[in-house]
Amino acid sequence: MDFLELVRTRRSIRAFKPDSIEDEKLNRILEAARLAPTAANRQPIYFVVVKDKKTKQALKNAYNQEWFYTAPVIICACCVPKQAWVRNDGKNYCEVDVTIAMDHLILGAWAEGLGTCWIAAFKPSVVKDALKLPEGVEPIALTPLGYPKTVPSPTHRKAISDVLKIIG
Ligand SMILES: Cc1cc2nc3c(=O)[nH]c(=O)nc-3n(C[C@H](O)[C@H](O)[C@H](O)COP(=O)(O)O)c2cc1C
Repeated sequence: MDFLELVRTRRSIRAFKPDSIEDEKLNRILEAARLAPTAANRQPIYFVVVKDKKTKQALKNAYNQEWFYTAPVIICACCVPKQAWVRNDGKNYCEVDVTIAMDHLILGAWAEGLGTCWIAAFKPSVVKDALKLPEGVEPIALTPLGYPKTVPSPTHRKAISDVLKIIG
C-alpha cells in the first residue's frame, strides 16, 4: 500500500477481534513512534503498552467505554514537558511532539493491518495512577490496538479549498 492509500483507508476503529498481536508487529509499530521527529530532537515522548487485565480494569475509571476494552492492547502516549523544546514566547512543544509520534504509531498500525482510535476524552489523573506514570510524565492520548472487527465508512473531510490558501 502506498502512503496516500494508507492515509486514505485508515479509520478510527471501535470494534476489535480478540486475536492477540504478534510481537514483531507491535515492535514495528512502536519503532515508527520512536523514530518520529521532535522539536530540537528533544524526544520528550513516553509510551506505555498495556496488555494485562488488571491494568485495563483500572483504566476503566479513566475511560469507561465497553468497545475500547475489546482490543488486546491499549497504548498510552505521554509527553514529558520538562524535556521538551520551548519556543522564545514560552510555548512548550511536548504535545506537538507526542502527537506526531502518535500519528506515526497510528499509521504504522494501519500498515500492519491493525486498528487504533485516538482517545482524548479520558481522566488524566486516573490514567496517571492506573499506569503508575513517573513524576513529570503527562498522558496525552490513549488508543486501543488490535485487529479490526469492523471498518467504518469514511468520515467527512472538508474540501481542499476550505483548508488551503495558496499565495503566489
Ligand atoms: C485529537 C483527537 C482526539 C480524539 N478523541 C476521541 C475520543 O475521545 N473518543 C473517540 O471515540 N474518538 C476520538 N477521536 C477520533 C475522532 O472522532 C476521529 O478521528 C474522527 O471522527 C475522524 O474519523 P476517522 O479517524 O475514522 O477518519 C479523536 C481524534 C483525535 C485526532
